[in-house]
Amino acid sequence: MSKVKTALIIGASRGLGLGLVKTLLADGWQVTATVRNPQKADALQALGKVRIEKLDMDDQQAVIALSQQLKGDVFDLLFVNAGVKGPDVQTPGGATLAEVGQLFFTNAVAPINLAQRFVGQIRPETGVLAFMSSVLGSVTMPDAPELALYKASKAALNSMTNSFVTQLGEQKLTVLSLHPGWVKTDMGGEGADLDVETSTRGLVDQVNAYTGKGGHHFVNYKGETIPW
Ligand SMILES: NC(=O)c1ccc[n+]([C@@H]2O[C@H](COP(=O)([O-])OP(=O)(O)OC[C@H]3O[C@@H](n4cnc5c(N)ncnc54)[C@H](OP(=O)(O)O)[C@@H]3O)[C@@H](O)[C@H]2O)c1
Repeated sequence: MSKVKTALIIGASRGLGLGLVKTLLADGWQVTATVRNPQKADALQALGKVRIEKLDMDDQQAVIALSQQLKGDVFDLLFVNAGVKGPDVQTPGGATLAEVGQLFFTNAVAPINLAQRFVGQIRPETGVLAFMSSVLGSVTMPDAPELALYKASKAALNSMTNSFVTQLGEQKLTVLSLHPGWVKTDMGGEGADLDVETSTRGLVDQVNAYTGKGGHHFVNYKGETIPW
């Protein structure tokens, strides 16, 4: 009998994070999921069988506290999904210092800070550390000038992930920078291409496909490699 797999999903109140939890539960995983506000986590709570923890990823003290609270746990998958779109106006002259700081902190700095805190709890050899990147994070593919700051924040996430990977030393781990497709969520909007279920099914398939392979890969939910 195969052992039950364990996942920690960061940012699971709604959208893709919630969808990832649903897909993993359907596949028989044991899931711990974080939300910023447990009072607004009805959809997650309704799934049952999920351990829900409170976490604002931007709060360094909260990240340390959660890592201590979960220190006995070992995860087959840590998926850092949480992210924000940033200001409505994304021209360099149209956004404030505070807005840009918030966007880059949440999308690029906080995920790596969290990964650094939890990396020792990812299962050696077969564990997967996944970040929710975006095809927009590719610096070789020009696109979406109206989302220029968001695009740059995901490129920064990819770059921060590359730096993080060089510091892993002997620890064998598979690191994925994943593009979920353009998905119908609060962020993606009604006009997006995909429903959440299709995207998260594909994302979990990639996690399974890359398990044990090692290295750092930038791929979409269909498994297609994206140029950095
Ligand atoms: N939808 C798309 O088409 C698309 C495409 C490419 C990449 N992505 C990426 O996929 C991820 C999920 O996006 P989505 O479409 O599901 O967006 P969403 O519906 O807006 O959900 C964003 C999630 O991130 C959480 N979050 C935001 N800031 C956080 C923080 N500081 N700490 C903890 N949680 C935080 C939110 O929690 P609250 O409920 O508390 O706000 C929410 O659960 C993001 O990283 C996004 O950039 C999305």
